[in-house]
Amino acid sequence: MDVIEAIKTRRSIRKYKPIPVEEDKIVECLDAARWAPSANNSQPWEFLVVKNAETRRKLAEIHRYGRFMAESPVVVVFIADPSKSENWYHGDVAVAVQNFLLAAHSLGLGTCWMGVINTPFEEPIKKLLEIPDKLRVLCTVSLGYPDEKPSRSRRPLEEITHWEKYGCKTK
Ligand SMILES: Cc1cc2nc3c(=O)[nH]c(=O)nc-3n(C[C@H](O)[C@H](O)[C@H](O)COP(=O)(O)O)c2cc1C
Repeated sequence: MDVIEAIKTRRSIRKYKPIPVEEDKIVECLDAARWAPSANNSQPWEFLVVKNAETRRKLAEIHRYGRFMAESPVVVVFIADPSKSENWYHGDVAVAVQNFLLAAHSLGLGTCWMGVINTPFEEPIKKLLEIPDKLRVLCTVSLGYPDEKPSRSRRPLEEITHWEKYGCKTK
């Protein structure tokens, strides 16, 4: 699958087959994440892989919009270190997450990004996983073999694209 195809066919998956994900595939996705660009190559990310069913159940209990973490065989927690990139850590780690989503999709795996940073879920998740105070949790991402094929639309390209000056729609 080439990159453009992966970008266009990836969808958020919230239903998973009850089968485990091979360790080498998890590592491959994490490796893709770490090759993301970051401001000054600061790489302000760390990844925490959760497979334990009880921990996933607790994550699902905490995150109101991520109940399906109880059923996805893997959850990856994307951690940001603001001390490595004070102004850009949020964007830097988000780019790594997108790499992870696309790599997973190209390997036949499904994912869903659940926002955590600046939500009431962040502190309880940090506490549960013993994540140090100085770090932030950008998001959790569920990972597993998809058991649904959702389709979603996008705003038309013409609506969101301007040429040369804002508001100019002719190329
Ligand atoms: C920053 C961010 C936060 C998100 N948080 C959640 C979430 O808490 N729960 C969830 O089910 N999906 C979440 N999503 C997934 C979006 O709902 C999804 O990407 C969007 O509806 C587009 O659908 P698609 O990914 O299938 O193309 C989040 C996505 C992003 C980028």
